[in-house]
Amino acid sequence: MSGQAQLALPGLAAESSAEWVWSEETGEETDVPAFVHETVMRAPVVNALAPSAGVYVDATVGGGGHTEGILEAHPEARVIALDRDEIALAAAKERLARFGDRVTFVKTPFGEVVAALASAGLTQVDGLCADLGVSSPQLDEAARGMSFRREGPIDMRMDRSSGETALELVERLSDDELADIIFHYGEEKRSRRIARSVKRALAEGQLATTLDLRRAIVRAVGPVRVGGVDPATRTFQALRIAVNGELEQLEALLGALPDIIRVDGRVAILSFHSLEDRLVKRAFHDREIWAPLTKKPVVASEEEGAANPRARSAKLRAARRIATTPETAMPRRKAKDR
Ligand SMILES: C[S@@+](CC[C@H](N)C(=O)[O-])C[C@H]1O[C@@H](n2cnc3c(N)ncnc32)[C@H](O)[C@@H]1O
Repeated sequence: MSGQAQLALPGLAAESSAEWVWSEETGEETDVPAFVHETVMRAPVVNALAPSAGVYVDATVGGGGHTEGILEAHPEARVIALDRDEIALAAAKERLARFGDRVTFVKTPFGEVVAALASAGLTQVDGLCADLGVSSPQLDEAARGMSFRREGPIDMRMDRSSGETALELVERLSDDELADIIFHYGEEKRSRRIARSVKRALAEGQLATTLDLRRAIVRAVGPVRVGGVDPATRTFQALRIAVNGELEQLEALLGALPDIIRVDGRVAILSFHSLEDRLVKRAFHDREIWAPLTKKPVVASEEEGAANPRARSAKLRAARRIATTPETAMPRRKAKDR
């Protein structure tokens, strides 16, 4: 991966809800490379799924690293590979071409996994993995508007064919609504000041690019990096999460899992910040449905963390779908109640 990472935020008190935060390493600007994304915790994810001659879902195929691992682990494993980004899908198709029809690609948000499986004639599968968040190429390409280091439109959509851009979101929201998003999804305490400054820049016609957005944030809170993190980090993270409905997507996926994973099937989810990890942890806590495969979330080895900074904030939670007999089964609660 080149030049950016989601890093642990040093120096935050344990009781703070903000455990991790998106960050981008400083460094030499490079030309946008071909689709290069270093797969995080490839072996632990594949081992957690223990692939057999079955069907697996990779909910976030991206560059295809985890799917490749599954297909290599068992010669009769098949993968339904989802992504909402057609550029990622095109790259994955190229990388995985040698596996032929053992992999089926579907352009869809993973929150619609049930429909995606139905389109492949399936209702249940043997396992699913998800590697949440954005890929390096999504962050690297200035035109996608996710980076505060590269000048581009304030877009931030993973799927550029639909939905509202981050700029349209900022235009639509009131100061208070914008502040709430920055506060909740960015875990940014200075959210009100930032929201006011961003809306002022918009009203003055000074909000066209990602660098304008960063300038408006710096105008509100100053240029000082807190804990080594750029002042724009949390606000960019918040807008990206909101624009892509990232937490709603994850909730929808987690809610669908009990129905689509066959008994004894396995799920492995990599998350990169506390808001995501909390949802995954809560879903797997339902012991009538899931047997956790490890007591604690698995983290990357020191070696992997040194080689790939993004891996340092990854947490892997994995669980096995357990059998429930009609006598012991409780009526399952809906995702939103869990
Ligand atoms: C971190 S990358 C995955 C990298 C991949 N595991 C690999 O080894 O190359 C995350 C991918 O998930 C996709 N993604 C994120 N949220 C999604 C969602 N809700 N639905 C579908 N795809 C999503 C992104 O477009 C991106 O390509």
